[in-house]
Amino acid sequence: MKIDDELMKHDDERIICRCEEITLGQIRKAIQDGARDLDSVKRMTRAGAGLCQNKTCYNLVARIIHMETGIPLSQLEPFTSRPPVRPVPVKCWSNVHV
Ligand code: FES
Repeated sequence: MKIDDELMKHDDERIICRCEEITLGQIRKAIQDGARDLDSVKRMTRAGAGLCQNKTCYNLVARIIHMETGIPLSQLEPFTSRPPVRPVPVKCWSNVHV
């Protein structure tokens, strides 16, 4: 049995993106609603937008898109990465000399 077959036989309640708790069913629904790439799935579900910045779920989401649409994995662009943004206290800049 191939890994893709193993992945797709799970029920829709299976968590795919652990950070955002996005299920296989939610990702399938996004694809049914027109998502054809990783960023579209991310915008529609938040899969890949969590703390790990899709290090954990990237391959799974890409494989689900591939299995549902037939788009080759080699044609799927990776998620757009964004650095995590956190507030920085002003005192962190007090010793900076310009
Ligand atoms: S598991 Fe999906 S963003 Fe972390």
